[in-house]
Amino acid sequence: MTMNLIYKSIIEAIIQNIDVGIHVIDDKGTTVIYNQAMADMEGLQINDVVGKRLLDIFPSLTSETSTLYRVMNTRKPIYNTRQTYLNKHGKQIKTINSTIPIKLTASKYGSLEIAKDITKEQELSKQVEYLQHELATKDVEDDKLRGYTFKSLMGEDEKFQNSISIAKKAANSASTVLIYGETGTGKELFAQSIHNESSRIDKPFIAQNCAALPETLLEGILFGTVKGSFTGAINRPGLFEQASGGTLLLDEINSMGLQLQAKLLRVLQEGYVRRVGGLNEIPLDVRIIATTNEEPQELVQKGLLRKDLYYRLNVIALNIPPLRERKKDIPALVEHFIKKYNMRLKKDIWYLSNDVKEAFLHYDWPGNVRELENLIEGAANMINNEHIIKPEHFSYEVFNKMFSNIQSTYRIKLEENKSLDDILEEVERNLINNAMSECGGNVSKSAEKLCIKRQTLQHKLKKYGMLKEE
Ligand SMILES: Nc1ncnc2c1ncn2[C@@H]1O[C@H](COP(=O)(O)OP(=O)(O)OP(=O)(O)O)[C@@H](O)[C@H]1O
Ligand SMILES: [Mg+2]
Repeated sequence: MTMNLIYKSIIEAIIQNIDVGIHVIDDKGTTVIYNQAMADMEGLQINDVVGKRLLDIFPSLTSETSTLYRVMNTRKPIYNTRQTYLNKHGKQIKTINSTIPIKLTASKYGSLEIAKDITKEQELSKQVEYLQHELATKDVEDDKLRGYTFKSLMGEDEKFQNSISIAKKAANSASTVLIYGETGTGKELFAQSIHNESSRIDKPFIAQNCAALPETLLEGILFGTVKGSFTGAINRPGLFEQASGGTLLLDEINSMGLQLQAKLLRVLQEGYVRRVGGLNEIPLDVRIIATTNEEPQELVQKGLLRKDLYYRLNVIALNIPPLRERKKDIPALVEHFIKKYNMRLKKDIWYLSNDVKEAFLHYDWPGNVRELENLIEGAANMINNEHIIKPEHFSYEVFNKMFSNIQSTYRIKLEENKSLDDILEEVERNLINNAMSECGGNVSKSAEKLCIKRQTLQHKLKKYGMLKEE
């Protein structure tokens, strides 16, 4: 055998056995090489294609739309383009293709296409995504097992109590509830409490965050899928079916795309659900609670929430006030979380120091109750054998944001060209002032609090002109 023949048989063996599709046409557009992998992908036989003109075999292609033709004519390669097509058996195939010009003679060019089937990888990645989602919701569901009820909702503020009384009424009906509250105000707690106080308590409570998933995946998860409806789809009931008889919480409804919002509206209005790709109409028996952390009417105005869906959801409107509008609930919440983390972390914390209390009351709480809880948990972790949470138990970052906007001894200004003596005097004056105001102006008690003699305090009060005229 000559070298050339050996080379040819090696190449032939590679072409027929490699799992990458290979298709070569000559300058007339006739197929000269077409391997098994390509035949498998396209659902054709090698003999159907080899020796035939490409455009006869693929009548849907033209010399413009066929990449093999384009590259043959332009002599410019095209790398890594994605293609999705249905093969002869109607199966959807996804490939990544590269098409390269091949010089045949001095003036004649053909072209070579290499295609890698990524359908399986895509199916796998869909499955991974789905499994991750399952795992994520499992975690949440374990939390749910603890089951929040109205008893777990702390707060005496009138606005907050008003929200509770609306929620309690909602528990007695099956109407849709739209909960609006900033992040961390307790929307999920309210939703669980409504479910647990309703007649549906023995049926599932399922929460789905609408922001966590891409729209197509979310659609399948909510409504279910039918095998074969798209690549990788299996027969699977959606959350609407899984929550049958119970409650479905659609969290962050405003993150749902408008198209899916329209489908959701249709389901709610018609009272039955159809799985993606399916024909059966499955009647619904689910109480829907939706949440948003932005003003619903503003969302409608901004075009992020469909108006018709808004009206359909907002049958019972439940607004939860932000913490900054119910600051008088802070002490009770603090006590509640101190108890919680004493138990969890095996600590013996009693209360907050006055500085911390003051800072908490002046703070704006953008993260609302969740932020408050996180701060207490963080500080509780820092405490060892002490009973009082003090500013130093917070991280530097928290310390800065909490204590920067209150007039306290911790806020010492250096920018005013003050000497150390001036600053120390200012600190001393502040501390004395605090002690005096806490003790109602009683000098003896203040001295005791400051751990100095009564006479010493008297002297300092005189020095700073802080003695009240008798
Ligand atoms: N009134 C309350 N009483 C006791 N704990 C509360 C209260 N409100 C909120 N919490 C606590 O704050 C945390 C956050 O509440 P939740 O998850 O319900 O907030 P959310 O409004 O759903 O927030 P997001 O919009 O960020 O999802 C809860 O884990 C709970 O511990
Ligand atoms: Mg939430």
